[in-house]
Amino acid sequence: MSTSDVTDNTGTGAPMPPQTPLVGPADAARYDSRFSALASGTTSSVMRDLMAITEKADIISLAGGLPDTETFPREIFDEIVGEIGTDFLAASLQYGPTDGMGDLREQIVSVMADEGARARADDVLITTGGQQAIDLSIRTFVNRGDPVLAEGPTYPGAAPCFTAYGADVTHVPMDDDGMREDLLEEAYHRLAAEGRPPKILYTIPNFQNPAGVTMSRERRERLVEFAHRVGLLIIEDNPYGQIRFEGDPLPTLYELDDGAGWVVYLGTFSKILAPGVRVGWAVAPPQVLRKMNLGKQAADLCSSTLTQRFVTEYLRRYDYREHVARVTGIYRSRRDAMLSALEARFPEGATWTRPRGGLFVWATLPDFLDTTALQAKALERQVAFVPGEGAFLDGRGRNSMRLNFSGVPESMITEGIGRLGDVVTDFIALHQALNPGAR
Ligand SMILES: Cc1ncc(COP(=O)(O)O)c(C=O)c1O
Repeated sequence: MSTSDVTDNTGTGAPMPPQTPLVGPADAARYDSRFSALASGTTSSVMRDLMAITEKADIISLAGGLPDTETFPREIFDEIVGEIGTDFLAASLQYGPTDGMGDLREQIVSVMADEGARARADDVLITTGGQQAIDLSIRTFVNRGDPVLAEGPTYPGAAPCFTAYGADVTHVPMDDDGMREDLLEEAYHRLAAEGRPPKILYTIPNFQNPAGVTMSRERRERLVEFAHRVGLLIIEDNPYGQIRFEGDPLPTLYELDDGAGWVVYLGTFSKILAPGVRVGWAVAPPQVLRKMNLGKQAADLCSSTLTQRFVTEYLRRYDYREHVARVTGIYRSRRDAMLSALEARFPEGATWTRPRGGLFVWATLPDFLDTTALQAKALERQVAFVPGEGAFLDGRGRNSMRLNFSGVPESMITEGIGRLGDVVTDFIALHQALNPGAR
């Protein structure tokens, strides 16, 4: 906006002079002494910080988790918006119930059924994106200092929720079959022996963000059995389950729980439709849902009735699975481009995961490399990624990086990975020059 766009409020339309800031850095103490413990304790998600940088510069961003919204047909968008204007205008401009629109909650039950999970509409709370569902579930269960289990690495966007509410996160390692269930049991028993049994486990079983791996069926079954045995509440976050490139779908933990009430399920339309609608959901037993509903009332009263209506009308008129099939085909080719480029351009000593769905590859470099330091050099070469330490709450992950393949076309992925491979190669050469004899 230029200054000439800014007019005063006297009705004369006269341009107003730009405002000079009255508050400078020297005034920081004024606010610091007033910030709540919650605000002081909240860290930023590295992802969000990077998004600000990568949006500004002319950069190949492998840092985001952005679905490709170019593929959404404009005619469909226009048709639905027109329909809302004609038939639902007043209601779509009005507040709605905190738990969400009834029609949409019914439709969410069908979307979940496509993944084999049988939920009841009464158990669904519509949220402002899956992100709010994470926030509400952590705030519902976690007191400051409470032990929580999560995969290591975990979703970088969940990190600020964990830090805000003071969760004491123990990470459970993963391999190609997802979270190591044996190590989960070990961590649980160790904490329980200290008199601090973990309250919740936060997990992303399908095409995990950021690791890209998927929990095997056997581990899912063992995990749910274990949760039932010891009384561990599982928060299952499943944004990517339908973005599958190959292999057969696996049962959700929610389904395996079979109504026992030990799984709170979180979903979102961000990856199967579009993140701009900001529509996600949580499914939980009534006692839990009531508390989440109260948390949501405090946070935002209700999610946008306009976008809930958009999603409802879209699902009513179109088969969303066709859109999912289309984007999945695109992401599969991009995944292939990324894996080929990594093979061709990343140096010896680097390893990476081979996701069978989702949006991310997780690459691990020799342990003397620090990807946060490497990021500055990568940005100089106009390529961005998410440094691995943002996916851990205990300082680990420094030699790893998250690479997104959904947000940019194949040619840019190849170019971006090439540039990144050069940066990594240079850093290894520098390390070897400074440490002769070391490998
Ligand atoms: C694992 C996971 N959970 C939740 C979200 C939040 O998604 P949204 O708020 O867009 O629904 C994301 C987004 O990338 C994610 O990767």
